[in-house]
Amino acid sequence: MLLEVHDLHVEFGTRDGVAHAVNGVSYRVDAGETLAVLGESGSGKSVTAQAVMGILDTPPGRITGGRVLFQGRDLLRLKEEERRRVRGAEMAMIFQDSLSALNPVLTVGDQLGEMFTVHRGMSRRDARLRAVELMDRVRIPAAAQRVGDYPHQFSGGMRQRIMIAMALALEPALVIADEPTTALDVTVQAQVMDLLAELQREYRMGLVLITHDLGVVADVADRIAVMYAGRIVETAPVHDLYKAPAHPYTRGLLDSIPRLDLKGRELYAIQGMPPSLTRVPPGCAFHPRCPLARDVCRTDVPPLQAVQGPGAEEGERASACHFWRECLHG
Ligand SMILES: Nc1ncnc2c1ncn2[C@@H]1O[C@H](COP(=O)(O)OP(=O)(O)O)[C@@H](O)[C@H]1O
Ligand code: SF4
Ligand SMILES: [Mg+2]
Repeated sequence: MLLEVHDLHVEFGTRDGVAHAVNGVSYRVDAGETLAVLGESGSGKSVTAQAVMGILDTPPGRITGGRVLFQGRDLLRLKEEERRRVRGAEMAMIFQDSLSALNPVLTVGDQLGEMFTVHRGMSRRDARLRAVELMDRVRIPAAAQRVGDYPHQFSGGMRQRIMIAMALALEPALVIADEPTTALDVTVQAQVMDLLAELQREYRMGLVLITHDLGVVADVADRIAVMYAGRIVETAPVHDLYKAPAHPYTRGLLDSIPRLDLKGRELYAIQGMPPSLTRVPPGCAFHPRCPLARDVCRTDVPPLQAVQGPGAEEGERASACHFWRECLHG
């Protein structure tokens, strides 16, 4: 297994008290596999990724429990220097906002080239050639002419391609992409997502694709983990989850995607708002919004338990709902 996150907990000290941003998250990603992490804004997706990458702002953030095994090593026990070596070369991250992730005062050629001079000891000249190759690879037109341009001289979509090139430069085994297309126009979103999926297959890397948009994951993900209020509430192979969700929150997300075959039907929206993570409701955190909620939901936290049903052959389905059977067959 490439990456195994076990029972990860992250807290933030805030003026309103302790925010339990990540509340016992576990997931696994194999080599060559794409796991989509899905959930509304504020559910803890980015904080989980930052803890895994070792780039969590500490303070205010604090990892209070769990293990992050990467190729068998527990990253949370590595010294910062070893951690830095793993980051970039063996695992890399793609962020939503390319303007703040790229250095505005360095040309893209210098930034891409630095990956090879710093990590691979290449000469500046060779590194420059590799930079142009990479820009070609992510289909930036006229790469050889544009290698000396600065980030702000590129469009948002092209900049996002450059960030993908940076992440893939050293052929890492794992890439975490945090809402990589959210800031782009819809048509450009699809192109960038297709490119990322194509490179993922070609390099056989493990990809964690974080998104709040269920629409973008169907074609690219192998499995989905749905997050709510700092927990994973359902995980399943992507097609099984689409066919028959085993958690009312997932069902709500699915029912709120516009579908061509149901044109004209009113879109369902999950009522209410996600909770503040300083005041997570007792029992099932979703109960104030859940159409299936009953008394037990207000008092007992539902554990993430194995689901028997479509996709369960692989032992890969789980739901944190007391009434997952009803949801699955309802
Ligand atoms: N820098 C911070 N300071 C305090 N709390 C934070 C900080 N970053 C994140 N949090 C808390 O963690 C929660 C989850 O954030 P995040 O992981 O960014 O959500 P998302 O699922 O949208 O990526 C936030 O709702 C907030 O309560
Ligand atoms: S445990 Fe209860 S409140 Fe939570 S999702 Fe299931 S039915 Fe709804
Ligand atoms: Mg986020």
